[in-house]
Amino acid sequence: MTESHPRITKAVIPAAGLGTRFLPATKATPKEMLPVVDKPAIQYVVEEAVSAGLDDVLMITGRNKRPLEDHFDRNYELESALQKKGDAGRLAKVQESSDLATMHYVRQGDPRGLGHAVLCAAPHVGQEPFAVLLGDDLIDPRDPLLKRMVEVQKQRGGSVIALMEVAPEQIHLYGCAAVAETEDSDVVRVSGLVEKPDLADAPSNYAIIGRYVLDPHIFGILRETEPGRGGEIQLTDALQQLSQTHTSAATAAGKAGGPVHGVVFKGRRYDTGDRGDYLRAIVRLACEREDLGPDFRAWLRSYVAEEM
Ligand code: UTP
Repeated sequence: MTESHPRITKAVIPAAGLGTRFLPATKATPKEMLPVVDKPAIQYVVEEAVSAGLDDVLMITGRNKRPLEDHFDRNYELESALQKKGDAGRLAKVQESSDLATMHYVRQGDPRGLGHAVLCAAPHVGQEPFAVLLGDDLIDPRDPLLKRMVEVQKQRGGSVIALMEVAPEQIHLYGCAAVAETEDSDVVRVSGLVEKPDLADAPSNYAIIGRYVLDPHIFGILRETEPGRGGEIQLTDALQQLSQTHTSAATAAGKAGGPVHGVVFKGRRYDTGDRGDYLRAIVRLACEREDLGPDFRAWLRSYVAEEM
């Protein structure tokens, strides 16, 4: 590691979206609080940031998002009730989320898009590279992705995004990257990005998934990014700019921030913002749990045999 690549300590988690795909569950409850087995989805994401060494977490929230703050705070009433009962196991579970990380919150008054949400992090982040984790994407802890991205950023500088190969007919659901191979089999150089392209316009089947390690120059670009697809300020559009800025002229004009590399993820990932994937995540994670798995798997086997 060189001096020009400071250690990354900050994670930004945008959680101000409206969660319309999950209505009516998300009318009064943030979608990030929906349980995946017995933990809210957001706790898995904060745990992932912490296990990659990022224990300063800034959450971008909005209206109706108060339960997020409460979840990562102490609940003295509950703790003392459990203490009185002598229920040490549940007490530890309650305290787990409040002891995880140093949490900060900022509100995105108007949800004007993911790019705008990331821009809300500028005063907290300052001039350091930082990570962004989307609460919708649940990455299996056995397939560490963020740690590898932080490592690639240290080695190569600039910004690093996470990519996953998807079936071509799925690419219109994602941001999509034009890429070139590097000497590392899991790392590609990104030469262009486009948000949710039609299949005919997609430069590849590499989809952007919800983990980023970004150079702070992204903030300057986001300030000038016009609303794009869906009338929202798109992070992908700003990253497209960033991927074009690794030239000496751009550096001289103070517009560096690139290059952009992609880490190609081949592990287990669930999009918990999508109802089908959310259900698959719960079934899979429940099956793998030591405490619940054996019973649940036996039930699932007989259910499938009866129903299918
Ligand atoms: P999504 O595109 O999944 O939007 O945002 P959404 O509103 O959360 O969900 P649906 O599509 O209506 O069901 C991707 C991520 O960006 C955050 C969301 O919270 C989510 O983590 N986001 C999006 C913001 O923080 N602010 C925004 O203005 C938009």
